Amino acid sequence: MNRKECIFLIRLDKFISERTEFSRSELKALAKKGKISVDGTVVRSADAKIDPEKQSVTVCGKTVRAEKFRYILLNKPQGYVCSTDEKDGETVIGLVPPELRTKNLFPAGRLDKDSLGALLITDDGALAHRMLSPSNHISKIYIVKLANGFKSEYINKFKNGLMLSNGEQCLPARLRPVENCDKLVFTELFEGKYHQIKRMFAAVGDHVEVLMRISLGGLVLPDKLGIGECMELLHKDVESLFQKTDFDDFCSRFSVDFSAFHINK
Ligand code: URA
Repeated sequence: MNRKECIFLIRLDKFISERTEFSRSELKALAKKGKISVDGTVVRSADAKIDPEKQSVTVCGKTVRAEKFRYILLNKPQGYVCSTDEKDGETVIGLVPPELRTKNLFPAGRLDKDSLGALLITDDGALAHRMLSPSNHISKIYIVKLANGFKSEYINKFKNGLMLSNGEQCLPARLRPVENCDKLVFTELFEGKYHQIKRMFAAVGDHVEVLMRISLGGLVLPDKLGIGECMELLHKDVESLFQKTDFDDFCSRFSVDFSAFHINK
């Protein structure tokens, strides 16, 4: 093996532990028991070196993916907190099925405990930072159910940048009523202040009863993803987070049937 090839080699236990829930000490024990294979051959030493781009690794018969990071889209149900700490209550991380779990998963962004919808869960800190950075202006679209019902005067108030009751200034946001549902309104934000939508509607004298996020940038919550379900995202799906969206076009094409069903329950 020449020096150039060596650069791409990585310790087997490091490779697996970064992509699964196994710790390095667990992997050492599993290797001794013959539970780890590289390209179909049992490897009993966890500190063996592998080329992750060219070799295939299995642990207990399951293939370890080559990609370093995991990206999961959860359709968050109400009653779960966006936290990694179980002291905060039942967490969204607990909803990730065992086959998708890795050690360092965290929710990238926040939805309130009583909010529903699209939430990205990942172990890629750099991606989350890029996504949450206000300078990236990622659009977030919600369907909101109001207690009193939509009023057209809200459109300009949101567009001009509302001031919240504590004096905080919001960036311009967009609204569009959902056809044939006078209590439902599409709401687009480009920032994420604490309880922002609830506080914005409170500032115009209304009250949010239910709130469901239906898109993050160009990533749209698929209606096949039931409440509480997770799907793994491919790298190209994750990049769509950073795509620009046309709010009006999005709203006219989005089928509210499935979200309205959950929101109106
Ligand atoms: N705004 C809110 O008030 N709550 C959320 O969960 C998201 C946006």
